[in-house]
Amino acid sequence: MEKKDYQITAWCRRMMREHVSEGAFCIDATMGKGNDTQQLCLLAGKAGKVLAFDIQEEAIRETRRRLEKTLDYCNYELLLESHTHMERYAKPESADCIVFNLGYLPGGSHAVATKAETTVEALEQGLRLLKRNGLMSVCIYSGGDSGYEERDAVLAWLKALDCRKYLVMLTRYYNRPNDPPIPAMVIKM
Ligand SMILES: C[S@@+](CC[C@H](N)C(=O)[O-])C[C@H]1O[C@@H](n2cnc3c(N)ncnc32)[C@H](O)[C@@H]1O
Repeated sequence: MEKKDYQITAWCRRMMREHVSEGAFCIDATMGKGNDTQQLCLLAGKAGKVLAFDIQEEAIRETRRRLEKTLDYCNYELLLESHTHMERYAKPESADCIVFNLGYLPGGSHAVATKAETTVEALEQGLRLLKRNGLMSVCIYSGGDSGYEERDAVLAWLKALDCRKYLVMLTRYYNRPNDPPIPAMVIKM
């Protein structure tokens, strides 16, 4: 029997599959090595569009290489730009899905990572850019080089969202020791 994948990114991608169909408009707010960008590009298809943001050239290079190898169409734009500028590139209430995978570039410098203040600012923008019924998925990490400031700020921000406007769901790897990652989903109602 095929082994199921319950890693945080695989878990979030299940929800992405529900929300992203052919022709969708999506944003990857933390491009990294492009795994999520690729997934969004495949789900949105030729008729769709994906914007992906990162502040490191290495991320753009890696992601471009990955997408050129796996896709025979170009439905993406890779931007060397902070996610705090997402609103310059997309219209309000236009996105079907926005993905945040916080932290540092795997294999890259741990010093260049997402930060509490800018992440919360970008998440606020994400809410404005989401369509009704749109999904914002956030992978939250803590401990080690990530520390706790960003996790605590994001969890506090999620908790304070108006429950008449947003559905917020967290999953816990409840019996895992130390600081397991936390997948969070926000759906705009
Ligand atoms: C955990 S990685 C993302 C992994 C990625 N989703 C993937 O599939 O490989 C986090 C990324 O966020 C990027 N990042 C940090 N601060 C950022 C910011 N202000 N705006 C956009 N990206 C940022 C880092 O450079 C890093 O590549």
